[in-house]
Amino acid sequence: SDIEKGTYPHYMLKEIDEQPAVIRKIIQHYQDEQGKLVIDRDIIDAVNAADRVYIIAAGTSYHAGLVGKQFIEKMAKIPVEVHISSEFGYNMPLLSEKPLFVFISQSGETADSRAVLVQVKEMGYPALTITNVPGSTLSREADYTLLLHAGPEIAVASTKAYTAQLAVLAILAEVTAKSRSLEVGFDLIHELGLVANAMDVLCDSKEILEVIAREFFSVTRNAFFIGRGIDFYVGLEGALKLKEISYIQAEGFAGGELKHGTIALIEEGTPVVALATQESVNLSIRGNVKEVVARGANPCIISMNGLNMDEDSFVIPEVHELLTPLISVIPLQILAYYAALHRDCDVDKPRNLAKSVTVE
Ligand code: G6P
Repeated sequence: SDIEKGTYPHYMLKEIDEQPAVIRKIIQHYQDEQGKLVIDRDIIDAVNAADRVYIIAAGTSYHAGLVGKQFIEKMAKIPVEVHISSEFGYNMPLLSEKPLFVFISQSGETADSRAVLVQVKEMGYPALTITNVPGSTLSREADYTLLLHAGPEIAVASTKAYTAQLAVLAILAEVTAKSRSLEVGFDLIHELGLVANAMDVLCDSKEILEVIAREFFSVTRNAFFIGRGIDFYVGLEGALKLKEISYIQAEGFAGGELKHGTIALIEEGTPVVALATQESVNLSIRGNVKEVVARGANPCIISMNGLNMDEDSFVIPEVHELLTPLISVIPLQILAYYAALHRDCDVDKPRNLAKSVTVE
């Protein structure tokens, strides 16, 4: 590849470290001379013309879509559905009258997503692609494109594209909200700046995260990730990262759902990573941790500063509560990286996986 790893042992680690710079670059790209966030008027008009947004994506991009739904619904007050592209094509939900389709794809080449794009274009619906690759198939075939500006992502496990997707989705939500004269209640440029600073702190915390990875993941065969609300969606991504590169069987669950079946899998020492970044559910997620600890689980609580308690394994800096996924995912990426390294796995090229899947 013509992209160099430099002093990094793996592309994944390099790409994890690039995240603060990517966020700053995105802020620059989506800012006008007056320092206001801007997105092409055509795109904002298309969002405003829609009575419902349908986000279509696969893998990590699907997980970004789940968080993006929260951004768009909370800030711009437009209902959003998020669908796995390989399901949507043959199992299409009843559509609203004026849908807008939003395809999220790092590569812009995922065949499952493209198949849906072709279908909805035939049905005459507008489509926006959010991608890292200008001129990619999904970008060319959609009506509109928003670019991630994350730079090439080489490691198969997606890291910086995910946080870039979240930042661009937040900007899309904010600019749409402003165009509808809705008060979002915070200054997104300022808050994303704080996110980038918090990312710097997290990228400098690798040593402690390597110790945590050794403690929780060096011998286990499975692991669970729990969270409530947006922490649940980040947990899904954390579990995907861990299984993709370390081959540990990992699953993400809503905090309250584990007890409805999966808790049967908890044994002495089973790692359960719990995210606690949301004040409104801080006590309930900690209650869920107690339930699994009572069955022998080894809890790894990752909380946000201000919500942290003595038993927590790792504390992330405080950012706006809606933007926590941009930073809570970083310790999960780093934990997955070291888990894979400690288990002698090929971090950048995991078995059975391809960076971009161009077959359905
Ligand atoms: C592949 C990759 C995943 C990625 C997914 C979607 O399965 O291994 O890391 O999340 O495709 O890729 P896209 O390029 O559409 O975001």
